[in-house]
Amino acid sequence: MTILVTGGLGYIGSHTVVELLNNGFDVVIVDDLSNSEKFILNNIEEVAGKKPVFYPFDLKRRELLKQLLDAHKIDGCIHFAAYKAVGESQEKPVDYYENNLFSLINLLQEFKERNISNFIFSSSCTVYGQADKQPIDEDTPLKLPESSYGKTKQMGEEIIKDFATAHHKKVTLLRYFNPIGAHPSAKLGELPIGIPNNLVPYVTQTAAGIREKLNVWGNDYPTEDGTAIRDYIYVVDLAKAHVAALKKLLKEEADTVIDVYNLGTGKGSSVLEVVHAFEAANSVEVPYQICERRPGDITIAYANADKAENELGWKADTSLEEALRTTWQWQKYLEQRQ
Ligand code: UD1
Repeated sequence: MTILVTGGLGYIGSHTVVELLNNGFDVVIVDDLSNSEKFILNNIEEVAGKKPVFYPFDLKRRELLKQLLDAHKIDGCIHFAAYKAVGESQEKPVDYYENNLFSLINLLQEFKERNISNFIFSSSCTVYGQADKQPIDEDTPLKLPESSYGKTKQMGEEIIKDFATAHHKKVTLLRYFNPIGAHPSAKLGELPIGIPNNLVPYVTQTAAGIREKLNVWGNDYPTEDGTAIRDYIYVVDLAKAHVAALKKLLKEEADTVIDVYNLGTGKGSSVLEVVHAFEAANSVEVPYQICERRPGDITIAYANADKAENELGWKADTSLEEALRTTWQWQKYLEQRQ
């Protein structure tokens, strides 16, 4: 079985490629290296003991995608390749629509023509916005996300559902909560370009002395310690959910399937809880200061992940502390590589 993984050298993509290889799948990666680095390919091979096939191109180049699909018989696809910076998407919305939607549409056009099914899409809990109740299950009404990045995820979901219905395809939409951590080998992890936007990379760089202080965006939220609450899920647990979702799709006898799963731990943690868990897990200090709220941030979001547990037999079972230990090991690996 050969699986096409787009964005397979990226943060979640690279961890998923390792899990696919560990589960006996052959993997073809396409990644344009716009937010990833080539050494990750070698590290995947070191960790998994097998080398995936790699194509360095941009999926907007449909003719290159055609050549790839002429050369490999593809049994399914996990589509990660996308721009993902929320703030940047507000400055360059058209670039986000162009990149995230044209790549997706090129894939679906080719899969329609070549009769390729089993398509898994990287979506986000951002499609729920600030939900009226917690935890968030899959039946929670969607709200149009504020950011253009979030809108590309919501539009992507709609395009894929229409594709599945009209062309009798099997698809899964995976809505991630907040992925964190790195591979236990410390050879794969997140590579933030420039100043990180997300909490855990910023905390990590502050502990490492690269940033002076963490800015905690707001302590006047209606939560116990006043800071916002999210559901932080360990990236290896998240990667395993993709393999479970793929196996389920491959087994489905119906020709049309649209599955949707929330991928989270079911537990919410506040910003300050994450900071203190990082300090405790790694015996380091994370200096911080309280600042104004960040525009667009919601108060609270955590998953009800029961559906994934019941239907995929998957559960995120790595603790916050353990995940944060792997992040610190990855930071040390990056420092020693320089
Ligand atoms: C955001 C996006 C989400 C996207 C995810 C990963 C929204 C509403 N959410 O999630 O769609 O999938 O990024 O890119 O658009 N924080 C600080 N200081 C910092 C950084 C963050 O206090 O320096 C706080 C934030 O205010 C927030 C929490 O930490 O309360 C998590 O922030 P972040 O890691 O950026 O993720 P989200 O905003 O939840």
